[in-house]
Amino acid sequence: MSSSSSNPTTSTDLKKSSGGANSSSAEAKRTVGKAPPAIQWDGGPDGFLKLIDQTRLPTELRVIECRDVQTVWEAIKMLRVRGAPAIGIAAAYGVVLSQGAGASLEQARQAADYLATSRPTAVNLFWALDRMRRIIDSESVAADGQLASRLLAEAQRIHREDRDMCHAIGRNGAALIPDQATIITHCNAGGLATAEYGTALSVMFTCQDQGKSIRVFADETRPLWQGSRLTAWELHQREIPVTVICDNMAAHLMKTQRIDAVIVGADRITARGDAANKIGTYSLAVNANYHGIPFYVAAPSSTFDLNLVDGADIPIEQRDGAEIVAPYGTRLAPDGVEVYNPAFDVTPAELITALITEKGVVQTPNEERVRRHLAGDNGWE
Ligand code: MRU
Repeated sequence: MSSSSSNPTTSTDLKKSSGGANSSSAEAKRTVGKAPPAIQWDGGPDGFLKLIDQTRLPTELRVIECRDVQTVWEAIKMLRVRGAPAIGIAAAYGVVLSQGAGASLEQARQAADYLATSRPTAVNLFWALDRMRRIIDSESVAADGQLASRLLAEAQRIHREDRDMCHAIGRNGAALIPDQATIITHCNAGGLATAEYGTALSVMFTCQDQGKSIRVFADETRPLWQGSRLTAWELHQREIPVTVICDNMAAHLMKTQRIDAVIVGADRITARGDAANKIGTYSLAVNANYHGIPFYVAAPSSTFDLNLVDGADIPIEQRDGAEIVAPYGTRLAPDGVEVYNPAFDVTPAELITALITEKGVVQTPNEERVRRHLAGDNGWE
């Protein structure tokens, strides 16, 4: 995958992290709580964007600096920054980077259009870019010409709002999780994937904050191992007991151990509650349904696409087959063999016990409940 490709950004090596198979537990403890924010803006309107390069984790904690639009596009495309809310935040800052000396409104518009081509599934990307476009086209910008500072203010608002939404999701979701719960999660819906705390992981972090004892099984999440590389790293940092499993072990666990809940994030949720998330989520939902285990999807309102009703209409990103057959340059299948690599799948609402948002909880989601919930009509379930 991307970690072997050349990185056009200025990079800063901070330290080696603890995830290597040979690292000692003493070394592991030293890194607890020391990670910088996944996304940071440095300076004023002429500043730059700092991102943890997530392709390097867990063996290396590296912050890259993005000083132009192209570098942000590449970081999103190659999953240096990833996770639906984080992609939206990074893209918003990417539009700010279009505003060098003498830059025009048109350059900002072009930057927004270009960043929208980086990845197709997470609706947060398009939602954030639409907010930036509204600033570009606003009357106040036309009146005072302060485009760069207004764009930065909007990107920072998007960033801040996501942080608040993630904490609220955590509080709303934690109410559903009993003490001593064992939870399965898939991919990474943590602080790395958002402004802070995450969505699915925010529920777990909040349980911990509330003094509940939980343990987590993290699907490794093939083909790019966001579960073992990133989710296990985040939970380990917070000292929440986490056990990494191969994706195909979840059904066996559900049958042989007490699993209290599955909690995942989402990249796009339709008006009827169908949820696109990392490939493998759908089979986890089918397995949870068969075993009678609650299946929760945690996401902010920015992940909902009310223009779509049927999950079949969500565009699914197809990625390079090399991610499957030659990860990190190691050939795992015969040269020339065909590969199919959809990055996401769609879990139908019927398999979702509840949606958890910053506004509350939608039990047994359907179109009426989702629309009422997002409209702020909280006199429901
Ligand atoms: O391809 P990725 O790593 O960007 O996929 C991310 C996921 O599927 C996450 O679960 C989703 O974006 C929610 S992140 C809060």
